[in-house]
Amino acid sequence: MLRARVTVDTHSVIGPINPRLYGSFIEHLGRAVYDGIYEPGHELADEDGFRSDVIDLVKELGVTTIRYPGGNFVSGFRWEDSVGAVSSRPRRLDLAWHSTETNEVGLAEFEQWLTKVGSDLMLAVNLGTRGVQEALDLLEYANLRQGTALAEKRIADGHPEPYDVQMWCLGNEMDGPWQLGHRSADDYGKLAAQTARAMRSFDPGLELVVCGSSSASMPTFGEWERTVLSHTYDEVDYISCHAYYEDRGDRAEFLASGVDMDRFIEAVVATADHVKAVRGSSKTIDISFDEWNIWYNERFEKVDKITGVDNWPIAPRLLEDSYTVTDAVVFGSLLISLLKHADRVTSASLAQLVNVIAPIMTEPGGPAWRQTTFFPFAETSANARGQALRVNVQCDSYATASYGDVPLVDSVAAFDAATGRGAVYLVNRSENESVEVTLSLGSLASAGLSAQSLWADDFSAANTLSDPSRVGLIVNATLRVEGDEATIVLPPVSWTQIAVAAVPAEA
Ligand code: AHR
Repeated sequence: MLRARVTVDTHSVIGPINPRLYGSFIEHLGRAVYDGIYEPGHELADEDGFRSDVIDLVKELGVTTIRYPGGNFVSGFRWEDSVGAVSSRPRRLDLAWHSTETNEVGLAEFEQWLTKVGSDLMLAVNLGTRGVQEALDLLEYANLRQGTALAEKRIADGHPEPYDVQMWCLGNEMDGPWQLGHRSADDYGKLAAQTARAMRSFDPGLELVVCGSSSASMPTFGEWERTVLSHTYDEVDYISCHAYYEDRGDRAEFLASGVDMDRFIEAVVATADHVKAVRGSSKTIDISFDEWNIWYNERFEKVDKITGVDNWPIAPRLLEDSYTVTDAVVFGSLLISLLKHADRVTSASLAQLVNVIAPIMTEPGGPAWRQTTFFPFAETSANARGQALRVNVQCDSYATASYGDVPLVDSVAAFDAATGRGAVYLVNRSENESVEVTLSLGSLASAGLSAQSLWADDFSAANTLSDPSRVGLIVNATLRVEGDEATIVLPPVSWTQIAVAAVPAEA
């Protein structure tokens, strides 16, 4: 058995955890909306056609903000198609996913669903095939109380109250050649700055996200951020990061994905701060990590991709990845990475939420179930509140081809002084060996501690339609507390949460 030492100090604060860190994303893609959140014929559908079992699972997951309606979809989206009487909404081609969009669910319906799940809307505008005017029109339709044609149209459409959307994404992945309306950093930066200025002349308080790179492996990464921020620095609050990871046959490397995310975030922070220094600005740009997850993209490109001039299905099965234990452990380590950077990553969106690379799956006319990735997200959202705490980890490393030597154990902690609750998160990346961790917890050890781990002897175990509860959290009974120290054994390829129930106020 390997050994490691972890020191947690409630005074070693990284920063406050913005609740928006626990956001997610729903795109008009595959069965995310239709046959996902919305299935009017289902026996569990509510009076508005939304599946109540899915609503319950989204609430259990603890999702704060939901990005909508795309994704690549948004870059060809005409928002006007998605409002007004459903019967008169047009069907349109969705060129991003080679599908037909019926517009049966649009802005109003999605807002209605958000109220049911208790999440806030983060809206993306189309800067692919459209521009400043259409973004302004959508803003006016959504947020102006009354008195203009567009505000009155919303009222006539049955929504007297403005939607009051605070957070807006200025397009999606505009650095990607696959994106409709893909632009150079210079062209996009100018368009984003113009759009942001125009939107802020309506409401200076809007929070705006400019597109960063689609991944750290884009050839333009770094230079894209620098150029785009040089144009938009004064006009926006966030720059986005997107990252997806998949096991390409080297599990040890896949397990180290959190290291890649750490470096990605730190590079974008450095670039944003470089632009800040050059401009002599006192303002700091934060990161909206508004797409992150495990995604078997290679399989999508080779197997699932839809083609054919006469083949435009409605709500096809796309990106329906089934997540294993290993995937969930990597996923948990990505959450650790986000928390380790909570001072600068103040918004994030797990991409996505239902059926499409999702923690929640549904079968038409059948059940909904939790994927393996559901558990780390739900626990972290429920327990990692307040402040993120820097954790000192002493452990062995292992060699990887892409990231060099990587620590076998990764960890972060959180503590909320207001509630006295907190948690320590740990992953064991070793494929063969358990790690016995000794934790110096200081005052946290005096509260009730309980530990749960996500692991299985079979690393490829998953929850499926036929076996929806194969994988779940297991009480980790190896936890021992003595004085202000605790010990716990982390099984190979595992994610663990040690929850702190209630620390006395003086902690
Ligand atoms: O989440 C799936 C897709 O991944 C999104 O549409 C796009 O923004 C990204 O490439």
